[in-house]
Amino acid sequence: MALFVLLAAMLAGVAASLPSGLDENADVSMLQRSLLSPLSSECVNNLAELLLLRQEVKLAEAVEVGRESLSGLNDIGAYLREIRDALTQREAPQEEERTQCTGGFRLVGGKCMLLLLNERKTWGDSRIHCQQIGADLATFQDAGTFAAILDYVKEINGPDKGASVWVGGSDGVVEDVWTWLTGEYMPRGSPFWGTRNNYTPEPSGGTNENCSILYKTDYYYMHDISCTFAAAPLCMKHN
Ligand SMILES: *[C@@H]1O[C@H](CO)[C@@H](O)[C@H](O)[C@H]1NC(C)=O
Repeated sequence: MALFVLLAAMLAGVAASLPSGLDENADVSMLQRSLLSPLSSECVNNLAELLLLRQEVKLAEAVEVGRESLSGLNDIGAYLREIRDALTQREAPQEEERTQCTGGFRLVGGKCMLLLLNERKTWGDSRIHCQQIGADLATFQDAGTFAAILDYVKEINGPDKGASVWVGGSDGVVEDVWTWLTGEYMPRGSPFWGTRNNYTPEPSGGTNENCSILYKTDYYYMHDISCTFAAAPLCMKHN
């Protein structure tokens, strides 16, 4: 009984201390309920569910942190807003009808892609390698394409061959302005970028870490890392 009262008091405390920026309380609590409902990897039917499953794990971790600090709660609020925005505002791109990809490339999220799993190169050398086969490092803008890429990487990059994967983004021109090699701005936040330590959002490495990678250690969430790191290039035909 005493435990129950304590729990109820804790929950009330959580509700009262949610960040003030959380205007759309109804939406967020609905999203929270749907994220916290049990999902198991066996019943993942589509890519959106895969993304949700990943975010559920992140959220569960963030809730643990939130039990210990108010700033953790703010992080949860920020996470929920980012997840909601990513899942509601961005639609999966239309899979264009196009000719079959050639030369080992596979159609992933509407583009021809090839993960060079046996190569370990710097970011710059990875670009050159991709260019030599008529491509360049991969870029993406929306959660649907990101999920398709994760699915492809996960499928062919088994645990025994686990490699981090270069994608074509950097902030080597202006610090903290992350752009794709196409010149477009990269998406920021969840569900694209990971976190480190106490949910410090990536990118966080300042001028030492100018290149973007799908980081094996953090379930292939994007991280910033030194451009001289050795990883497997993910090539994409851009035209
Ligand atoms: C990273 O990029 C910044 C510009 O954004 C540059 O000043 C810095 O020298 C670069 N760092 C490395 C290690 O190349």
